[in-house]
Amino acid sequence: MYPLNRNRRLRSCSAIRDLVRENQLSNNDFIVPLFVVEGKNIKKEIVSMPNYYQWSLDLLEKEVKELWKIGLKAVLIFTKVDDNLKDNRGTEALNKDGLMQRAIKTIKNSVPEMLVMTDIALDPYSSFGHDGIVENFKILNDATIDVLSEMAVSHATAGANFVAPSDMMDGRVLKIREALEIEGFFETGIMSYSVKYASSFYGPFRNALDSAPGFGDKKTYQMDFANQKEAINEAMKDLEEGADIIMVKPGITYLDIINSLSNKINSPIAAYQVSGEYSMLKIAEEKGFLDYNQVMIEQLFAFKRAGASMIASYHAKEAVKLLNQY
Ligand code: PBG
Repeated sequence: MYPLNRNRRLRSCSAIRDLVRENQLSNNDFIVPLFVVEGKNIKKEIVSMPNYYQWSLDLLEKEVKELWKIGLKAVLIFTKVDDNLKDNRGTEALNKDGLMQRAIKTIKNSVPEMLVMTDIALDPYSSFGHDGIVENFKILNDATIDVLSEMAVSHATAGANFVAPSDMMDGRVLKIREALEIEGFFETGIMSYSVKYASSFYGPFRNALDSAPGFGDKKTYQMDFANQKEAINEAMKDLEEGADIIMVKPGITYLDIINSLSNKINSPIAAYQVSGEYSMLKIAEEKGFLDYNQVMIEQLFAFKRAGASMIASYHAKEAVKLLNQY
């Protein structure tokens, strides 16, 4: 009761604020998404994602060294595939000398301790731009997860530490886990995009990878953004199937989901702050409407507060440089 309780006492100077701070943000919290392209000496800015780049393998090597140096220890790789390599079954995804497989090896050669995570879905390899195999305008579930499990084994063989299925087919985590076990990849983890919504915040990413769906949308596999209980269901099923980390995506608009999951499950939760979220802040910065650095840090703390153990974010590098200043 006032004046016995004055909440402002615990805010009166930065030393006490630091002592009572409930959540911390550091270099240990981040996964860095990386876009990889064919070619040499390429560091190409993505038009829809200012100050974010596509890398050719030679420059990727240097970039991951730099990430490691500033304390960023996990990367999530996406590759841009040439149109002439795309087909309905995503055949190129299984090429042991494909861009993804070479990217994994390049990173592991450059910084062996770097935790390498890879995206598992067919969309960058699909002539239809869908995450699964298409038949009569439908996305086939079971045929797709057969290919995804082979893809996971192929990434593990190249040296990936974690595979991250982002396709939202049913039963894919179990299929992938079984395939990895059969091939002896007991230590390869699965970070499942268990709770992935059909979101328009992915627009700039699809632009970066030229992976927008050729027909229709992804609503028959990605979740309806009106739903919350379904998220718990998806996460529980994936844990039963052998997922090690549960991801929620997109991020800021879905903090309620992260929070309700963190009250329900004991496994680590990853938040994915997606491309559209990044681009919005960048554009607001360019316009001079927002203090970019401050808003970025505020949003990143929101993920921790909601209950995320880690954050995949295009801000990771900028954020860590800023946090080092304190
Ligand atoms: C591929 C995939 C997507 C993203 C991550 N993995 C795009 C999609 O599902 O359409 C989006 C990431 C982002 O927007 O930053 N399945």
